[in-house]
Amino acid sequence: MSEYSVVTLSRHIIEEQRLHPDATGAFTSLLMEIALAAKMISRQVNKAGITDILGGIDDQNVHGEEVQKLDVYADRVLFKALDHTGTLCCLASEEHESFLPIPDKFPAGDYVLLYDPLDGSSNIDVNVSIGTIFSIHRKVSSAERGSLEDCLQPGRRQLAAGYVIYGSSTMLVYTSGTGVFGFTLDPSIGEFVLSHPNMRIPEPSAKVYSVNEGNWSAWSAEQRQLVEEMRGEGEHGGFSGRYIGSLVADIHRTLLRGGIFMYPGDARMPNGKLRLLYEASPMAFIVEQAGGRASDGATRLLDVQPRGLHDRIPVFMGTSTFVDRAVGHLTATLGSPPVGAGAGGSGESR
Ligand code: AHG
Ligand code: MN
Ligand code: MN
Repeated sequence: MSEYSVVTLSRHIIEEQRLHPDATGAFTSLLMEIALAAKMISRQVNKAGITDILGGIDDQNVHGEEVQKLDVYADRVLFKALDHTGTLCCLASEEHESFLPIPDKFPAGDYVLLYDPLDGSSNIDVNVSIGTIFSIHRKVSSAERGSLEDCLQPGRRQLAAGYVIYGSSTMLVYTSGTGVFGFTLDPSIGEFVLSHPNMRIPEPSAKVYSVNEGNWSAWSAEQRQLVEEMRGEGEHGGFSGRYIGSLVADIHRTLLRGGIFMYPGDARMPNGKLRLLYEASPMAFIVEQAGGRASDGATRLLDVQPRGLHDRIPVFMGTSTFVDRAVGHLTATLGSPPVGAGAGGSGESR
């Protein structure tokens, strides 16, 4: 990249906006505020070892999981970066039971933001990559400050989705339906700079499967067979295993190298662990826009109708041929879909 021709995130978004003559600029300003929040979270993540931000806060979120200090920080930073912009009618966060209307003192807008402020919480204290995930919908109800209906839209209606990965560098990756673009934060100028234009999952891709095999004993026979086949020597075998335990990091690798990421339903968690609105849907939009496939094991993830804000859903996403193979296997083996698949999720906790 030439020093004289950097494409910053703001330039990229403004140029995209010009393709839509009726655009008001609200969408541009929304994405720029998300980027600002991402920089603030990134700064805090980088200082995590030297300031008092590591560890838990002796509280549990709506899923019964221990809340980390960085979860709370990221959640508040995102809300505060966006509450006053006049672009949103409401937000919904993985960390809050109910959706969050824009406060009365600020103007309300036409968009809805769903977000996982800090993804990969269990990796915070061990200096492993974590992230932030976001999903943007257009308001569909007549409620000025949003309603549940605005939040519970199928993923195919997303206007944009993205994630920030706080890794060896900080990157923001997003799609607004015209491909996937990756920007790397250049800390010396404080800007996200286009580093990965038009990201595509390579095909043929690396043979990598990514799944928490600690759940093996609770898996269905079909899920075990699938993984055994990938580990084996046969035509559909020869895979390596890679599992980080941060969805953002596992999907980022899958986008760049290819492979299949899975979080299936099992006997303990019939709909798996991942949340439809804050994790599965935005990642499915990105993966599809990069030429990959995303399924719950039976249904295209983007077609699943959410029933509640905190629905969970089985996830199979990545290289199209691998996902097609997995779904074919899971649905054909015993003529029935895998545990929880196609159910449209449920709100139960682990
Ligand atoms: P979060 O930190 O937002 O709760 O998400 C954690 C998720 C996701 O990042 C990851 O893919 C998955 O949990 C890992 O779950 P296991 O530890 O069960 O493998
Ligand atoms: Mn998460
Ligand atoms: Mn989270």
